[in-house]
Amino acid sequence: DEHLTDEQLLADPVDRIVAVGGTRHPSIPLPGDLFMPQRPNSQGLDLEDWRVLKRVKEGIAGRSGIGPEPEPVTDVAPLVDRAARAFPGWSGLPIEDRAACMIRLADLLEERRGELMALAVHEANKTIPDALAEVREAIDFCRYYAGEAVEKLQPVELPGPTGESNILRMEGRGVWTCIAPWNFPLAIFTGQVAAALVTGNTVIAKPAPQTPRIAAEAVRLAHLAGVPEDALILVPGGPTVGAALTGDPRIAGVAFTGSTPTAKKIAQSLLEGDDRPIVPLIAETGGVNAMIVDSTALAEQVVADVLLSAFGSAGQRCSALRLLLVQEEVAEHMIQMLTGAMDALIVGDPADPATDVGPVIDDAAYDKLMTHRAAMKDRWVKTLEVPEKGRFVPPTLIRLDSMDDLKTEWFGPLLHVATWKSGKLEETVQRVNAKGFGLTMGLHSRIARGSELVEARARVGNLYVNRSMIGAIVGSQPFGGEGLSGTGPKAGGPHYLPRFCAERVTSIDT
Ligand code: NAD
Ligand code: ALA
Repeated sequence: DEHLTDEQLLADPVDRIVAVGGTRHPSIPLPGDLFMPQRPNSQGLDLEDWRVLKRVKEGIAGRSGIGPEPEPVTDVAPLVDRAARAFPGWSGLPIEDRAACMIRLADLLEERRGELMALAVHEANKTIPDALAEVREAIDFCRYYAGEAVEKLQPVELPGPTGESNILRMEGRGVWTCIAPWNFPLAIFTGQVAAALVTGNTVIAKPAPQTPRIAAEAVRLAHLAGVPEDALILVPGGPTVGAALTGDPRIAGVAFTGSTPTAKKIAQSLLEGDDRPIVPLIAETGGVNAMIVDSTALAEQVVADVLLSAFGSAGQRCSALRLLLVQEEVAEHMIQMLTGAMDALIVGDPADPATDVGPVIDDAAYDKLMTHRAAMKDRWVKTLEVPEKGRFVPPTLIRLDSMDDLKTEWFGPLLHVATWKSGKLEETVQRVNAKGFGLTMGLHSRIARGSELVEARARVGNLYVNRSMIGAIVGSQPFGGEGLSGTGPKAGGPHYLPRFCAERVTSIDT
Protein backbone atom coordinates (compact mmCIF):
# COMPACT_ATOMS: atom_id res chain seq x y z
CA ASP A 1 0.00 0.00 0.00
CA GLU A 2 1.44 3.33 -1.08
CA HIS A 3 -0.51 5.26 1.54
CA LEU A 4 0.44 5.49 5.16
CA THR A 5 -2.01 4.87 7.95
CA ASP A 6 -2.62 7.63 10.46
CA GLU A 7 -0.68 5.58 13.02
CA GLN A 8 2.31 5.39 10.70
CA LEU A 9 2.04 9.08 10.04
CA LEU A 10 2.03 9.81 13.73
CA ALA A 11 5.14 7.72 14.21
CA ASP A 12 6.95 9.54 11.44
CA PRO A 13 9.19 12.56 11.97
CA VAL A 14 7.22 14.59 9.44
CA ASP A 15 4.26 14.41 11.77
CA ARG A 16 6.00 14.93 15.04
CA ILE A 17 6.16 18.53 13.98
CA VAL A 18 2.47 18.71 14.87
CA ALA A 19 2.81 16.75 18.05
CA VAL A 20 5.53 18.99 19.46
CA GLY A 21 4.19 22.25 18.15
CA GLY A 22 6.63 22.59 15.30
CA THR A 23 9.92 22.17 17.08
CA ARG A 24 12.03 19.91 19.20
CA HIS A 25 12.34 22.71 21.73
CA PRO A 26 8.80 23.91 22.31
CA SER A 27 9.75 25.97 25.32
CA ILE A 28 12.82 27.75 23.96
CA PRO A 29 12.48 30.52 21.37
CA LEU A 30 15.21 29.19 19.13
CA PRO A 31 15.15 28.70 15.39
CA GLY A 32 12.89 25.66 15.36
CA ASP A 33 10.16 27.99 16.55
CA LEU A 34 11.25 31.01 14.68
CA PHE A 35 11.72 29.28 11.40
CA MET A 36 8.07 28.30 11.36
CA PRO A 37 6.45 30.79 9.03
CA GLN A 38 3.69 32.70 10.78
CA ARG A 39 1.79 34.01 7.83
CA PRO A 40 -1.56 35.68 8.03
CA ASN A 41 -2.48 35.97 4.39
CA SER A 42 -2.66 32.53 2.82
CA GLN A 43 -5.65 30.83 4.26
CA GLY A 44 -5.84 27.09 4.34
CA LEU A 45 -2.11 26.39 4.43
CA ASP A 46 -1.31 25.08 7.81
CA LEU A 47 1.08 22.44 8.99
CA GLU A 48 -1.74 21.07 11.09
CA ASP A 49 -3.32 19.91 7.87
CA TRP A 50 -2.62 16.21 8.19
CA ARG A 51 -3.43 15.33 4.64
CA VAL A 52 -0.80 17.78 3.40
CA LEU A 53 1.82 16.31 5.67
CA LYS A 54 1.00 12.89 4.38
CA ARG A 55 1.47 14.06 0.80
CA VAL A 56 4.74 15.78 1.67
CA LYS A 57 5.96 12.56 3.11
CA GLU A 58 4.85 10.54 0.09
CA GLY A 59 6.47 13.08 -2.21
CA ILE A 60 9.75 12.93 -0.33
CA ALA A 61 9.60 9.17 -0.62
CA GLY A 62 9.29 9.60 -4.42
CA ARG A 63 5.65 8.50 -4.60
CA SER A 64 4.04 11.82 -5.35
CA GLY A 65 3.29 11.20 -9.02
CA ILE A 66 5.00 14.38 -10.18
CA GLY A 67 6.58 14.03 -13.62
CA PRO A 68 10.22 13.49 -14.57
CA GLU A 69 12.82 16.22 -14.91
CA PRO A 70 12.12 18.22 -18.07
CA GLU A 71 14.77 18.00 -20.80
CA PRO A 72 16.87 21.14 -21.30
CA VAL A 73 16.01 23.00 -24.49
CA THR A 74 18.65 23.63 -27.15
CA ASP A 75 16.90 25.82 -29.73
CA VAL A 76 14.85 28.64 -28.24
CA ALA A 77 13.89 30.38 -31.52
CA PRO A 78 10.85 28.17 -32.34
CA LEU A 79 9.58 28.63 -28.79
CA VAL A 80 9.79 32.40 -29.05
CA ASP A 81 7.89 32.08 -32.37
CA ARG A 82 5.11 30.18 -30.64
CA ALA A 83 4.88 32.66 -27.79
CA ALA A 84 4.83 35.55 -30.27
CA ARG A 85 1.96 33.96 -32.19
CA ALA A 86 0.01 33.47 -28.96
CA PHE A 87 0.43 37.11 -27.93
CA PRO A 88 -2.51 38.73 -29.79
CA GLY A 89 -4.99 36.20 -28.38
CA TRP A 90 -3.79 36.32 -24.79
CA SER A 91 -3.26 40.07 -24.64
CA GLY A 92 -6.67 40.61 -26.23
CA LEU A 93 -8.49 38.93 -23.33
CA PRO A 94 -10.17 41.14 -20.73
CA ILE A 95 -7.95 41.69 -17.66
CA GLU A 96 -10.57 39.90 -15.57
CA ASP A 97 -10.15 36.70 -17.60
CA ARG A 98 -6.38 36.68 -17.24
CA ALA A 99 -6.72 37.44 -13.53
CA ALA A 100 -9.21 34.58 -13.16
CA CYS A 101 -6.55 32.21 -14.54
CA MET A 102 -4.12 33.42 -11.85
CA ILE A 103 -6.70 32.87 -9.11
CA ARG A 104 -7.32 29.37 -10.43
CA LEU A 105 -3.58 28.79 -10.50
CA ALA A 106 -3.39 29.87 -6.84
CA ASP A 107 -6.14 27.39 -6.00
CA LEU A 108 -4.33 24.58 -7.83
CA LEU A 109 -1.03 25.41 -6.11
CA GLU A 110 -2.87 25.24 -2.82
CA GLU A 111 -4.43 21.93 -3.71
CA ARG A 112 -1.05 20.47 -4.73
CA ARG A 113 0.88 21.99 -1.86
CA GLY A 114 1.98 18.68 -0.42
CA GLU A 115 3.66 17.57 -3.66
CA LEU A 116 5.14 21.01 -4.26
CA MET A 117 6.61 21.11 -0.77
CA ALA A 118 8.12 17.68 -1.35
CA LEU A 119 9.68 18.91 -4.59
CA ALA A 120 11.10 21.98 -2.84
CA VAL A 121 12.71 19.67 -0.28
CA HIS A 122 13.99 17.32 -2.98
CA GLU A 123 15.27 19.75 -5.57
CA ALA A 124 16.26 22.79 -3.55
CA ASN A 125 17.09 21.22 -0.16
CA LYS A 126 14.44 23.39 1.48
CA THR A 127 13.59 22.55 5.06
CA ILE A 128 9.95 21.70 5.58
CA PRO A 129 9.02 25.10 7.08
CA ASP A 130 10.85 26.82 4.21
CA ALA A 131 9.08 24.61 1.69
CA LEU A 132 5.76 25.61 3.21
CA ALA A 133 6.68 29.29 3.04
CA GLU A 134 7.76 28.77 -0.56
CA VAL A 135 4.37 27.46 -1.63
CA ARG A 136 2.55 30.10 0.37
CA GLU A 137 4.49 32.87 -1.29
CA ALA A 138 3.79 31.52 -4.79
CA ILE A 139 0.07 31.48 -3.97
CA ASP A 140 0.24 34.97 -2.52
CA PHE A 141 1.90 36.29 -5.69
CA CYS A 142 -0.84 34.85 -7.92
CA ARG A 143 -3.68 36.22 -5.84
CA TYR A 144 -2.02 39.57 -5.23
CA TYR A 145 -1.15 40.27 -8.86
CA ALA A 146 -4.60 39.14 -10.00
CA GLY A 147 -6.18 41.66 -7.61
CA GLU A 148 -3.75 44.43 -8.52
CA ALA A 149 -4.33 43.96 -12.24
CA VAL A 150 -8.10 44.09 -12.01
CA GLU A 151 -8.01 47.09 -9.69
CA LYS A 152 -5.23 49.18 -11.20
CA LEU A 153 -4.70 48.33 -14.86
CA GLN A 154 -8.11 49.29 -16.22
CA PRO A 155 -8.26 51.92 -18.97
CA VAL A 156 -8.37 55.41 -17.49
CA GLU A 157 -10.09 58.42 -18.97
CA LEU A 158 -7.89 61.49 -18.66
CA PRO A 159 -8.89 65.16 -18.78
CA GLY A 160 -9.51 66.64 -22.24
CA PRO A 161 -9.07 70.38 -21.75
CA THR A 162 -8.98 71.02 -25.49
CA GLY A 163 -12.05 68.98 -26.16
CA GLU A 164 -10.50 65.59 -26.99
CA SER A 165 -11.28 62.34 -25.23
CA ASN A 166 -8.06 60.85 -23.84
CA ILE A 167 -7.80 57.22 -22.76
CA LEU A 168 -4.73 55.66 -21.10
CA ARG A 169 -4.42 51.90 -21.51
CA MET A 170 -1.97 49.50 -19.88
CA GLU A 171 -1.29 46.66 -22.28
CA GLY A 172 1.01 43.68 -22.64
CA ARG A 173 4.31 44.38 -24.41
CA GLY A 174 4.84 41.04 -26.19
CA VAL A 175 6.93 38.00 -25.27
CA TRP A 176 8.50 38.31 -21.81
CA THR A 177 11.37 36.21 -20.64
CA CYS A 178 11.34 35.28 -16.97
CA ILE A 179 14.60 33.92 -15.55
CA ALA A 180 14.49 32.54 -12.02
CA PRO A 181 17.03 31.44 -9.41
CA TRP A 182 17.10 28.08 -7.61
CA ASN A 183 16.74 29.51 -4.13
CA PHE A 184 13.04 30.39 -4.57
CA PRO A 185 12.33 27.89 -7.32
CA LEU A 186 8.56 28.10 -7.00
CA ALA A 187 7.80 31.45 -5.35
CA ILE A 188 9.99 33.71 -7.48
CA PHE A 189 9.45 31.63 -10.61
CA THR A 190 5.66 31.81 -10.22
CA GLY A 191 5.70 35.46 -9.14
CA GLN A 192 7.55 36.58 -12.26
CA VAL A 193 5.35 34.47 -14.52
CA ALA A 194 2.07 35.56 -12.91
CA ALA A 195 2.99 39.25 -13.20
CA ALA A 196 4.01 38.95 -16.85
CA LEU A 197 0.92 36.93 -17.78
CA VAL A 198 -1.69 38.93 -15.94
CA THR A 199 -0.48 42.10 -17.64
CA GLY A 200 -1.11 40.53 -21.04
CA ASN A 201 2.32 39.30 -22.08
CA THR A 202 3.07 35.80 -23.26
CA VAL A 203 5.92 34.22 -21.36
CA ILE A 204 9.01 32.16 -21.90
CA ALA A 205 9.98 30.97 -18.42
CA LYS A 206 13.46 29.67 -17.68
CA PRO A 207 13.94 28.12 -14.25
CA ALA A 208 17.38 27.60 -12.74
CA PRO A 209 18.99 24.39 -13.98
CA GLN A 210 19.09 23.05 -10.41
CA THR A 211 15.29 23.23 -9.98
CA PRO A 212 13.41 22.45 -13.21
CA ARG A 213 10.84 19.96 -11.87
CA ILE A 214 9.07 22.26 -9.46
CA ALA A 215 8.93 24.91 -12.20
CA ALA A 216 7.55 22.36 -14.66
CA GLU A 217 4.83 21.52 -12.16
CA ALA A 218 3.93 25.20 -11.74
CA VAL A 219 3.68 25.59 -15.53
CA ARG A 220 1.57 22.46 -15.81
CA LEU A 221 -0.80 23.85 -13.19
CA ALA A 222 -0.93 27.23 -14.97
CA HIS A 223 -2.01 25.45 -18.15
CA LEU A 224 -4.64 23.53 -16.17
CA ALA A 225 -5.77 26.88 -14.79
CA GLY A 226 -6.55 28.09 -18.30
CA VAL A 227 -3.35 29.74 -19.55
CA PRO A 228 -2.93 28.59 -23.19
CA GLU A 229 0.09 26.32 -23.71
CA ASP A 230 1.75 28.77 -26.10
CA ALA A 231 1.13 31.74 -23.80
CA LEU A 232 3.39 30.19 -21.16
CA ILE A 233 6.30 28.05 -22.33
CA LEU A 234 8.79 26.43 -19.98
CA VAL A 235 12.35 26.53 -21.24
CA PRO A 236 14.58 24.45 -18.99
CA GLY A 237 18.32 24.99 -19.25
CA GLY A 238 21.26 26.90 -17.87
CA PRO A 239 23.18 30.07 -18.70
CA THR A 240 23.51 29.24 -22.41
CA VAL A 241 19.76 28.93 -22.83
CA GLY A 242 19.26 32.08 -20.74
CA ALA A 243 21.70 33.99 -22.92
CA ALA A 244 20.01 32.73 -26.09
CA LEU A 245 16.69 34.02 -24.80
CA THR A 246 17.89 37.46 -23.79
CA GLY A 247 19.78 37.64 -27.09
CA ASP A 248 16.60 37.10 -29.13
CA PRO A 249 15.50 40.49 -30.51
CA ARG A 250 11.82 39.50 -30.32
CA ILE A 251 11.89 39.48 -26.53
CA ALA A 252 9.86 42.45 -25.24
CA GLY A 253 11.17 42.46 -21.68
CA VAL A 254 13.07 40.43 -19.10
CA ALA A 255 12.28 39.71 -15.47
CA PHE A 256 15.44 38.32 -13.91
CA THR A 257 16.24 37.28 -10.36
CA GLY A 258 19.71 35.98 -9.61
CA SER A 259 23.23 37.21 -9.06
CA THR A 260 24.53 40.70 -9.78
CA PRO A 261 27.11 39.56 -12.37
CA THR A 262 24.43 37.71 -14.36
CA ALA A 263 22.15 40.77 -14.25
CA LYS A 264 24.93 42.86 -15.74
CA LYS A 265 25.52 40.34 -18.52
CA ILE A 266 21.81 40.36 -19.35
CA ALA A 267 21.69 44.17 -19.35
CA GLN A 268 24.58 44.20 -21.81
CA SER A 269 23.08 41.55 -24.06
CA LEU A 270 19.78 43.47 -24.28
CA LEU A 271 21.65 46.40 -25.82
CA GLU A 272 23.31 44.40 -28.57
CA GLY A 273 22.09 44.80 -32.15
CA ASP A 274 21.54 48.15 -33.86
CA ASP A 275 17.93 47.47 -34.80
CA ARG A 276 16.99 45.91 -31.54
CA PRO A 277 14.18 47.61 -29.61
CA ILE A 278 15.07 49.02 -26.19
CA VAL A 279 13.28 46.76 -23.73
CA PRO A 280 12.79 46.84 -19.97
CA LEU A 281 14.85 44.70 -17.61
CA ILE A 282 13.64 44.04 -14.10
CA ALA A 283 16.65 42.68 -12.24
CA GLU A 284 16.55 41.56 -8.63
CA THR A 285 19.96 40.53 -7.40
CA GLY A 286 22.07 39.93 -4.31
CA GLY A 287 23.25 41.96 -1.36
CA VAL A 288 25.86 42.34 1.34
CA ASN A 289 23.19 42.85 3.96
CA ALA A 290 24.05 44.28 7.35
CA MET A 291 22.29 44.33 10.69
CA ILE A 292 23.22 47.16 13.04
CA VAL A 293 22.85 46.53 16.76
CA ASP A 294 23.21 49.30 19.32
CA SER A 295 23.64 49.11 23.07
CA THR A 296 19.90 49.55 23.76
CA ALA A 297 18.93 46.44 21.79
CA LEU A 298 17.23 43.53 23.54
CA ALA A 299 19.97 40.90 23.43
CA GLU A 300 17.74 37.81 23.41
CA GLN A 301 15.75 39.14 20.51
CA VAL A 302 18.90 40.09 18.62
CA VAL A 303 20.23 36.56 19.02
CA ALA A 304 17.03 34.94 17.77
CA ASP A 305 16.76 37.34 14.82
CA VAL A 306 20.42 36.94 13.88
CA LEU A 307 20.20 33.14 13.88
CA LEU A 308 17.14 33.18 11.67
CA SER A 309 18.42 35.89 9.32
CA ALA A 310 21.94 34.51 8.87
CA PHE A 311 21.53 30.74 9.09
CA GLY A 312 17.87 30.14 8.16
CA SER A 313 17.58 28.59 4.67
CA ALA A 314 21.32 27.82 5.09
CA GLY A 315 21.93 31.51 4.38
CA GLN A 316 20.73 31.01 0.81
CA ARG A 317 18.41 34.00 0.66
CA CYS A 318 19.27 37.23 -1.07
CA SER A 319 17.82 38.98 1.98
CA ALA A 320 20.01 37.05 4.45
CA LEU A 321 22.21 38.72 7.02
CA ARG A 322 25.88 38.70 6.00
CA LEU A 323 27.42 41.35 8.25
CA LEU A 324 26.50 41.87 11.89
CA LEU A 325 27.59 45.26 13.19
CA VAL A 326 27.48 45.55 16.97
CA GLN A 327 28.17 48.64 19.05
CA GLU A 328 31.55 48.12 20.69
CA GLU A 329 30.31 48.37 24.30
CA VAL A 330 27.98 45.37 24.00
CA ALA A 331 29.79 43.41 21.30
CA GLU A 332 31.54 40.79 23.45
CA HIS A 333 28.38 40.02 25.42
CA MET A 334 26.31 39.78 22.25
CA ILE A 335 28.85 37.57 20.48
CA GLN A 336 29.04 35.30 23.50
CA MET A 337 25.26 34.88 23.56
CA LEU A 338 25.21 34.28 19.85
CA THR A 339 27.88 31.61 19.87
CA GLY A 340 26.07 29.82 22.67
CA ALA A 341 22.79 29.92 20.80
CA MET A 342 24.41 28.67 17.59
CA ASP A 343 24.94 25.35 19.38
CA ALA A 344 21.20 24.84 19.37
CA LEU A 345 20.97 24.94 15.58
CA ILE A 346 20.13 21.57 14.11
CA VAL A 347 22.07 20.99 10.91
CA GLY A 348 20.95 17.99 8.92
CA ASP A 349 18.53 16.34 6.53
CA PRO A 350 16.06 18.93 5.24
CA ALA A 351 13.33 16.29 5.13
CA ASP A 352 13.46 16.06 8.93
CA PRO A 353 11.08 18.70 10.24
CA ALA A 354 13.34 19.46 13.18
CA THR A 355 16.16 20.60 10.89
CA ASP A 356 17.06 24.27 11.00
CA VAL A 357 19.90 24.29 8.46
CA GLY A 358 20.09 21.97 5.46
CA PRO A 359 22.83 21.46 2.87
CA VAL A 360 23.70 24.06 0.25
CA ILE A 361 22.44 23.71 -3.28
CA ASP A 362 25.32 22.15 -5.22
CA ASP A 363 29.02 21.30 -5.30
CA ALA A 364 29.99 24.63 -6.84
CA ALA A 365 28.30 26.56 -4.04
CA TYR A 366 29.79 24.24 -1.43
CA ASP A 367 33.33 24.62 -2.77
CA LYS A 368 33.08 28.41 -3.02
CA LEU A 369 31.77 28.80 0.52
CA MET A 370 34.21 26.30 2.04
CA THR A 371 37.12 28.07 0.33
CA HIS A 372 36.14 31.41 1.83
CA ARG A 373 35.53 29.83 5.22
CA ALA A 374 38.95 28.15 5.14
CA ALA A 375 40.65 31.40 4.11
CA MET A 376 39.12 33.06 7.20
CA LYS A 377 40.11 30.27 9.61
CA ASP A 378 42.11 32.47 11.95
CA ARG A 379 39.03 34.72 12.21
CA TRP A 380 36.49 32.07 13.28
CA VAL A 381 34.66 32.89 16.48
CA LYS A 382 32.44 29.86 16.26
CA THR A 383 31.74 27.03 13.86
CA LEU A 384 29.47 23.99 14.13
CA GLU A 385 29.94 20.28 13.61
CA VAL A 386 27.91 19.06 10.65
CA PRO A 387 27.06 15.64 9.20
CA GLU A 388 29.99 14.25 7.23
CA LYS A 389 28.01 13.17 4.21
CA GLY A 390 26.28 15.82 2.13
CA ARG A 391 27.02 19.41 1.17
CA PHE A 392 26.72 20.82 4.67
CA VAL A 393 28.56 24.11 5.11
CA PRO A 394 29.09 24.53 8.86
CA PRO A 395 27.36 27.65 10.13
CA THR A 396 30.30 29.86 11.04
CA LEU A 397 30.73 33.21 12.75
CA ILE A 398 33.73 35.15 11.40
CA ARG A 399 35.13 38.23 13.09
CA LEU A 400 36.39 41.07 10.90
CA ASP A 401 38.78 43.84 11.93
CA SER A 402 36.72 46.28 9.92
CA MET A 403 33.23 46.25 8.45
CA ASP A 404 34.80 47.45 5.19
CA ASP A 405 36.55 44.09 4.77
CA LEU A 406 33.39 42.38 3.52
CA LYS A 407 32.79 43.40 -0.06
CA THR A 408 30.98 40.52 -1.76
CA GLU A 409 27.99 38.31 -1.11
CA TRP A 410 28.81 34.86 0.35
CA PHE A 411 25.63 32.95 -0.38
CA GLY A 412 25.52 30.53 2.52
CA PRO A 413 25.58 30.18 6.33
CA LEU A 414 28.69 32.30 6.94
CA LEU A 415 28.12 35.32 9.14
CA HIS A 416 30.70 38.08 9.53
CA VAL A 417 30.76 40.29 12.60
CA ALA A 418 32.44 43.65 13.22
CA THR A 419 32.00 46.45 15.73
CA TRP A 420 31.26 50.16 15.53
CA LYS A 421 32.00 52.90 18.01
CA SER A 422 29.50 54.80 20.10
CA GLY A 423 28.41 58.02 18.35
CA LYS A 424 29.21 56.59 14.92
CA LEU A 425 25.80 55.27 13.91
CA GLU A 426 25.45 57.53 10.89
CA GLU A 427 28.97 56.78 9.71
CA THR A 428 28.26 53.06 10.08
CA VAL A 429 25.23 53.30 7.84
CA GLN A 430 27.20 55.31 5.28
CA ARG A 431 29.93 52.67 5.25
CA VAL A 432 27.37 49.97 4.58
CA ASN A 433 25.87 52.12 1.81
CA ALA A 434 29.34 52.54 0.33
CA LYS A 435 29.48 48.83 -0.50
CA GLY A 436 27.15 49.65 -3.35
CA PHE A 437 24.51 47.01 -2.60
CA GLY A 438 21.10 48.04 -1.31
CA LEU A 439 18.84 45.11 -0.58
CA THR A 440 18.05 44.58 3.11
CA MET A 441 19.27 46.10 6.35
CA GLY A 442 18.40 45.25 9.92
CA LEU A 443 18.49 47.50 12.94
CA HIS A 444 18.10 46.57 16.58
CA SER A 445 17.68 49.66 18.72
CA ARG A 446 15.15 50.86 21.26
CA ILE A 447 15.90 54.53 20.63
CA ALA A 448 13.56 56.23 18.18
CA ARG A 449 16.26 58.74 17.19
CA GLY A 450 18.50 55.86 16.12
CA SER A 451 15.92 54.18 13.94
CA GLU A 452 14.87 57.51 12.42
CA LEU A 453 18.47 58.22 11.51
CA VAL A 454 18.99 54.79 9.96
CA GLU A 455 15.70 55.07 8.08
CA ALA A 456 16.77 58.43 6.67
CA ARG A 457 20.27 57.34 5.64
CA ALA A 458 20.04 53.66 4.67
CA ARG A 459 20.05 53.12 0.93
CA VAL A 460 18.27 49.78 0.97
CA GLY A 461 15.03 48.47 -0.42
CA ASN A 462 13.91 46.77 2.81
CA LEU A 463 14.78 47.98 6.29
CA TYR A 464 13.77 45.75 9.21
CA VAL A 465 13.75 47.23 12.70
CA ASN A 466 13.76 45.05 15.82
CA ARG A 467 12.92 41.88 13.92
CA SER A 468 14.50 39.40 11.55
CA MET A 469 15.42 40.63 8.10
CA ILE A 470 14.08 37.83 5.91
CA GLY A 471 10.72 36.61 4.71
CA ALA A 472 9.08 39.63 3.10
CA ILE A 473 5.33 39.18 2.80
CA VAL A 474 3.67 39.75 -0.56
CA GLY A 475 1.48 42.84 -0.51
CA SER A 476 2.74 43.99 2.90
CA GLN A 477 6.49 44.15 2.44
CA PRO A 478 7.20 44.73 -1.26
CA PHE A 479 10.64 43.30 -1.85
CA GLY A 480 13.67 44.39 -3.87
CA GLY A 481 16.72 46.60 -3.75
CA GLU A 482 18.74 49.26 -5.47
CA GLY A 483 22.31 49.82 -6.64
CA LEU A 484 24.09 46.50 -7.18
CA SER A 485 21.02 44.78 -5.68
CA GLY A 486 18.65 45.49 -8.51
CA THR A 487 16.57 47.81 -10.62
CA GLY A 488 13.18 47.62 -8.91
CA PRO A 489 10.23 47.77 -9.05
CA LYS A 490 9.60 45.69 -5.98
CA ALA A 491 8.07 42.25 -6.30
CA GLY A 492 4.84 41.88 -4.37
CA GLY A 493 4.30 45.64 -4.36
CA PRO A 494 1.87 48.07 -5.97
CA HIS A 495 4.35 49.37 -8.57
CA TYR A 496 5.46 46.01 -9.96
CA LEU A 497 2.86 45.31 -12.64
CA PRO A 498 3.07 48.61 -14.58
CA ARG A 499 6.70 47.79 -15.52
CA PHE A 500 5.44 44.80 -17.49
CA CYS A 501 3.06 46.99 -19.50
CA ALA A 502 3.20 49.22 -22.50
CA GLU A 503 1.34 52.47 -21.69
CA ARG A 504 -0.73 53.66 -24.60
CA VAL A 505 -2.79 56.83 -24.90
CA THR A 506 -5.45 57.38 -27.52
CA SER A 507 -6.65 60.95 -28.03
CA ILE A 508 -9.78 61.42 -30.14
CA ASP A 509 -11.03 64.76 -31.23
CA THR A 510 -14.71 64.72 -30.37
P1 NAD B 1 22.58 33.08 -11.12
O1 NAD B 1 22.77 34.50 -11.53
O2 NAD B 1 23.73 32.17 -11.27
O3 NAD B 1 21.41 32.41 -11.98
C1 NAD B 1 20.10 32.95 -11.99
C2 NAD B 1 19.40 32.53 -13.26
O4 NAD B 1 20.05 33.15 -14.37
C3 NAD B 1 19.46 31.02 -13.54
O5 NAD B 1 18.23 30.63 -14.11
C4 NAD B 1 20.59 30.91 -14.55
O6 NAD B 1 20.51 29.75 -15.37
C5 NAD B 1 20.39 32.17 -15.37
N1 NAD B 1 21.58 32.66 -16.10
C6 NAD B 1 22.87 32.50 -15.75
N2 NAD B 1 23.66 33.13 -16.65
C7 NAD B 1 22.84 33.71 -17.57
C8 NAD B 1 23.05 34.52 -18.72
N3 NAD B 1 24.26 34.85 -19.13
N4 NAD B 1 21.97 34.97 -19.40
C9 NAD B 1 20.73 34.67 -19.00
N5 NAD B 1 20.46 33.90 -17.91
C10 NAD B 1 21.51 33.42 -17.21
O7 NAD B 1 22.01 33.10 -9.64
P2 NAD B 1 21.64 31.86 -8.70
O8 NAD B 1 22.88 31.26 -8.18
O9 NAD B 1 20.64 30.97 -9.38
O10 NAD B 1 20.83 32.58 -7.51
C11 NAD B 1 21.47 33.11 -6.40
C12 NAD B 1 21.59 34.61 -6.55
O11 NAD B 1 20.30 35.17 -6.72
C13 NAD B 1 22.17 35.29 -5.32
O12 NAD B 1 23.09 36.27 -5.70
C14 NAD B 1 20.95 35.93 -4.67
O13 NAD B 1 21.27 37.04 -3.87
C15 NAD B 1 20.11 36.29 -5.85
N6 NAD B 1 18.69 36.42 -5.51
C16 NAD B 1 18.12 37.65 -5.48
C17 NAD B 1 16.78 37.80 -5.11
C18 NAD B 1 16.10 39.15 -5.05
O14 NAD B 1 14.89 39.18 -5.00
N7 NAD B 1 16.83 40.25 -5.03
C19 NAD B 1 16.03 36.68 -4.77
C20 NAD B 1 16.64 35.43 -4.82
C21 NAD B 1 17.97 35.31 -5.20
N1 ALA C 1 11.63 37.63 -0.49
C1 ALA C 1 12.63 36.83 0.16
C2 ALA C 1 12.87 37.27 1.57
O1 ALA C 1 12.36 38.30 1.95
C3 ALA C 1 13.90 36.82 -0.62
O2 ALA C 1 13.58 36.64 2.30
